[in-house]
Parts: sequence; structure tokens; C-alpha cells
Amino acid sequence: MCGIVGYTGVQGAAPILLEGLRKLEYRGYDSAGIAVMYDCRILVSKVTGRIVNLCEKTQNGAAVPGTTGIGHTRWATHGAPTEKNAHPHLSNDGRFAVVHNGIIENYRALREELIGKGYVFESETDTEVIVHLMEMYYHGDVKEALIRTSDRLHGSYALGVICSEEPGKIYAVREASPLILGVGIQGNYFASDVTALVSHTRNVIYLDDGEFAELSENSVTVYDCLGKPLSKKIARINWDVQAAEKGGYEHFMLKEIMEQPGAVKATITPRIRDGRVHFEELQISDEELRQIRRIVITACGSAYYAGCSGKYVLEKLVRIPVDVELASELRYKDPLIDEHTLLIVISQSGETADTIAALKECQQRGAKALAIVNVVGSTIAQLADYTVYTWAGPEIAVATTKGFTTQLSVLYLLAVLFADRLGTCEESIPELVSALQKLPMYIQQAIDMNHRIPQLAEKYHGSRSLFFIGRNTDYAIALEGALKMKEISYLHAEAYAAGELKHGTIALIEDHQPVIALCCNPSVMEKTINNIIEVKARGAEVLALTFRNNQKIISAADDFLFIPNANPVFAAVIEIIPLQLLAYYTAKENKCDIDKPRNLAKSVTVE
Ligand code: F6R
Repeated sequence: MCGIVGYTGVQGAAPILLEGLRKLEYRGYDSAGIAVMYDCRILVSKVTGRIVNLCEKTQNGAAVPGTTGIGHTRWATHGAPTEKNAHPHLSNDGRFAVVHNGIIENYRALREELIGKGYVFESETDTEVIVHLMEMYYHGDVKEALIRTSDRLHGSYALGVICSEEPGKIYAVREASPLILGVGIQGNYFASDVTALVSHTRNVIYLDDGEFAELSENSVTVYDCLGKPLSKKIARINWDVQAAEKGGYEHFMLKEIMEQPGAVKATITPRIRDGRVHFEELQISDEELRQIRRIVITACGSAYYAGCSGKYVLEKLVRIPVDVELASELRYKDPLIDEHTLLIVISQSGETADTIAALKECQQRGAKALAIVNVVGSTIAQLADYTVYTWAGPEIAVATTKGFTTQLSVLYLLAVLFADRLGTCEESIPELVSALQKLPMYIQQAIDMNHRIPQLAEKYHGSRSLFFIGRNTDYAIALEGALKMKEISYLHAEAYAAGELKHGTIALIEDHQPVIALCCNPSVMEKTINNIIEVKARGAEVLALTFRNNQKIISAADDFLFIPNANPVFAAVIEIIPLQLLAYYTAKENKCDIDKPRNLAKSVTVE
């Protein structure tokens, strides 16, 4: 839930570290710090709050000389977001500075042991044990100290380390937390995410778990956990720098909403050939497919809701039962999973701690895991038996948009692929494929046709709470629409299966209560209209989301959001677009910090 960055080369390190931290700020933003080596001493600057405070404190880095350093932006787990708890942490002898993303699970025992040996702790963090272990195990060889320290740590960690005895060197260690090396000219880098590297270099090395790297101005050496040098492939990043910039939009979230036609197209198009779906990366034989008795989808947050929505399409087309489980629940429930279960794991970041744990739990019980992931080389992508990437590009806003729609697009592709291979669906495969190919166009139309959303946001932004209702696929999207509204506008929003209202919740409906009614699924449209009539009879103000020209809904509701007349099987991925925009403009009315909502972070690497 934090971001780390490191640089060593010929330029001033502090400005480069600050720029990198700004790119990583979405990962955590309650405090930040840098440590730079200068004249064989380590200079540390830390602040509470945002990177902008660190820029101010260091005069955009100009006040901190030196060409080698490490930086950190924090989302507090152990200890409050204070300056003392901010990283980098220093060893008692001042020789080492460490930044850390992840959790050290055995830190309490280590802390007691180190206190017993006379080490003095300055912070409440789990991280601080690392820097004291480094001091304890250092006898003139940093690599040796790193190996011995890593050996003592249980949990997840991506570490950046500098040592005043080795000016010009930075060390990076990876164990179950993301870490990427950037190979530059006259300088090398590491970072939690490529977004912090692309403005300097497109040449990267993905570290695997248990590996560590030694970087100097002109060299990058990767070692295994025993210190044996490894030969690693240099990969080329094909994102352009603008992909990680706001590109003229006021917020990343708005930019990412607008990027969805392109992101969905990039996800779908390469998987379609000759009117059928093909996944080069998914080598499942027809025999293996026929062995699948059950599909279990697991994920967290919006990725879970993508699963809830995709379930309807998978069951409709593939006729295999699909259960969707929250990863945080699945991991602890002694799940009924065996070798006839196909586990589908969904994660934008590929680093979500609960999702990783659920994946491992199910693999141990014999299931094959298929991961739908956006971040290339992430932990989940590496752990899964099959990985299918969503080609959404970097998603910076904390609230996911293009991550969600590309996940759902992959679930649609899988449903059509499996249905085609198993011969399970009544619909014509070429027609379904053609409907998939039209999705980017319809998503663009959904963006274009809802220009009244800012006015609707003005009307609804002061509401005490909002209900989102719908049935079937509409219900799944209601869940995601309500989450978007909650997390960025801070309005209470509750999604309800429309048919359930009268079993209790309708008691809350009173005059002027806003109800957002999703009516894009023709199979349950009449039923949802009845629910609209019921809530209106009790005073609700209804904002309906439906197909353009749906006269029945238009005469039943007060306000409208529209989507184009697409194939209803895949309409859900279009239906979320107006709800993302509504949440965005409502948050704007409420003057919220849209890209970095309070208490949140982009990748949830802690339980
Ligand atoms: C909400 C949101 C989160 C994530 C969730 C899972 O807008 O972004 O709910 O969907 O934290 O994250 P990933 O997909 O990275 O596993």
C-alpha cells in the first residue's frame, strides 16, 4: 500500500525521487520521505501528508545534494501517519536507510529480540526492524547483510536500501510485493510501479520473489536469495509517458473514464480472429474444459463486482455453475474447491493481499487458477496457472474505472470462448463476437450521450444517501455504481436487489429519497418498473438508467441516464459508464479529492 523508488546515477537524486514519488502517490499518501547519500552521510527528509509537502520542505529536491537515494510514500499500517513513522528509517549507527512496501508479519518478535540486544526504536513501524537487522548483520558486506536480514523476515516486502559505506549503490529486494528495476543510461532505478520509471527509461527488469538487486550508475546485477548472480531479461515498456500523465484532464479518474473505449478495444481486439475468440495465452484443452464442474471467481472490491456481473454471462453462455466469492472470505472458509474447479482470480494491480491468499489456498486444493490482471509481471500474474492481461494501461486514480470495464470484457471473452468450445449456447457465436467488437463504440456513445450528468450531480450531491436498485446484471452494476459513489463522493450509497426492497429496506424510502434504478436488462425490465412504481408511491425521486428511447421507463421515472441500444448480454459493461460519470461529477460538486479519496490506497497489499 506504499510506493518506493530509488535512483543512482549522475544527476541530482532528490528531484528524481520526488518525481517518482508523485507518480506513486496513488499507492499511499499520508506521509513521505527520501534519503540521499552525500559525502558518505545519509541525509533524510520526511513530512506528513502529501508529496507536495516534501517538495516544499526540500525546495523540490534542490536543498538535498547527492546523486544516490531512495524514497517512500506511505499508507499507514503500523503506527499513525507521523513524521517519525514515515520512511526512510535509519539504523542506530546511521549507516543504513531503508524504505519498505509490505508487511513484516513477525516484526513483534524481531523487535523484542533487537531491543534485547540494545537497538533503539524511533518509530512504531514494522519496517524499522529491517534497518536494525541490517546493522546487526553488517560486517563489511551489504549483500551478506541483506541475505541474512531477508532470511529473518516473514511477510511481504519490497525494500530499497542504501549504505553510507557504499556511496553510489542502491539495493532492492523483492518478496511478494511489486518491484521493478529501470535500466537507464548513466543511471539506474527501482520503483514499485513502472509509472515512476517511464519518463526515464523504457527498459525494465521484473524482479521475482526472493531476488535482490545491486544497482550503481553503470550496472544492474540481480541475485537469487543466496547471492548467486542471475541472468535476467530486460523487458521493454510500450506505454508512452502520456499514459501515466493527466493529459489535460482535471483528474486521472476522468481521463481514465474517457480512455475506456480504447482500453476495452485493446483488450478485446487481439483476442478475436476469424469471427471467434482466441487466447494465445490460455492453453486449456477441450478435454480440460470438459472436466470443469464449477467456476469460482474471487476478487476484492470492484474486481469482485466485475465477477458478480460476469457470472450471469458465464452461466448463461457456458452453463457451468459460477460462484463469486470475496477473496477476504474465501481464504478463511475452508472452501469446497477441488481439481474440477476452475478458479478465476481478478485483480487490476495483481498485488491485492487477500486475492493472493485466496488464490494460493485454492491452488493448494487442486484448482487451476486463471488470473485476469492488468499489471504485467505482478504477483498474481506470476502465481496463476494461466494469466490473461487486461490491456487497460496504467490506472492511476484510486477508484477503478477502465480496470473494471476491461476485467468485465475479459470475462465476456472467456464466456464466448468456453461456450464456443463446449457448444453450450443457443446464441450464434459470430453474432456474440460481433457484439463484443461493438462494445468500444457503444462505450464511447455512452460517454457522449450523457452530457446532462453534471446537472444531475448538482441536483443529487447534497443527498444524505442514495439507493441503487436493479435485478440480475443490473444489480451487479448497481453494486459497482454504489461503490464508485461512496468512495469518491463520500455519500452513503447502498445497492439493493430491486426485488428485495420490500423485505425490509423499503421502510427507508420517504419523500425525495433518491433512488437510482438500473433498467438495462430486458429479461427483468417489467419487474424493475414495478419496483420503480413502488418507491415512487412512497415519495422517492427516481433517476433511471436505461436504453435510449425506452419509453416505458421514461414515463415511470423523474430523471434519466442513457446507454445506447447494445446487445443486452453485454450491456452491463456499457451501463457502468454513466454511473462512473455521475460519481465523478458528484464528487466534484462535493469538492472531494477525487483521485486520492480519504483513507484509501490504490493497491491493497495488506489484509
Ligand atoms: C474501487 C477499487 C477497489 C479495487 C480493489 C481490488 O474503485 O478500485 O475496490 O477494485 O481494491 O483491487 P485489485 O483489482 O487491484 O485487486
